[in-house]
Amino acid sequence: MSEQLEHYISLLHPSSDPIVAQMKEYAKQHRVPIIEEQSLVVLLSLIMIKQPKAILEIGTAIGYSALRMAKAYRHSQVVTVDIDEDRLAVAKEFLSNTNEAERIHIMHGDACEEVERLRKGAPYDFIFIDAAKGQYRRYFDTFFPMLASNGIIVSDNVFFKGMVYEQNQVKEKYRTMIKKLREYNEYLANHSECTTSFYAVGDGLAVSIKKE
Ligand SMILES: C[S@@+](CC[C@H](N)C(=O)[O-])C[C@H]1O[C@@H](n2cnc3c(N)ncnc32)[C@H](O)[C@@H]1O
Repeated sequence: MSEQLEHYISLLHPSSDPIVAQMKEYAKQHRVPIIEEQSLVVLLSLIMIKQPKAILEIGTAIGYSALRMAKAYRHSQVVTVDIDEDRLAVAKEFLSNTNEAERIHIMHGDACEEVERLRKGAPYDFIFIDAAKGQYRRYFDTFFPMLASNGIIVSDNVFFKGMVYEQNQVKEKYRTMIKKLREYNEYLANHSECTTSFYAVGDGLAVSIKKE
């Protein structure tokens, strides 16, 4: 999507919270990858429809998407985990100045090694996977059992800059990761316990709904 379109959509979805604007600016200045505007719109629409009481996010970064999800449904509790301590320190600083601080529970560590701590918040009604792209299958298999029936898992960046579906566009440094993302998408498409839809928004979103 063009930068102009991204900008235009963001103008149509203004947030009145100055912290949100500060976080976006911080991410831009410090090159922290946060969710693209168009993907965020879809993510938040799903949250508003689903009204999940318990949300798990894999990949906090500076807490931007965690805050946006918490705001989208005011009765939700958001558990979010990140491996990067420095980013979490920034997230804590930003979130401490918000009304949502008490509903956002930040954990430090590799998501897959923090299973016991993360299990305490289960069952989750909604899981957002947005961490290391080559590890998506690992995250999915680890946390799918913690997802409630009819729960939703959203995986971001599943088309990764178009390289996942354009074979001749794959840069050498991404080759392994792209292969894993392709395998992940096929895995989701064929998973017997969930139904997955792929959306060509932002960097690509996969929305998987757990069957009853
Ligand atoms: C794309 S950023 C998350 C952006 C955030 N969801 C947002 O939109 O505001 C990905 C984050 O995943 C974290 N990460 C990578 N591997 C991880 C792992 N195994 N467990 C937890 N976090 C991880 C990185 O440190 C990074 O901050």
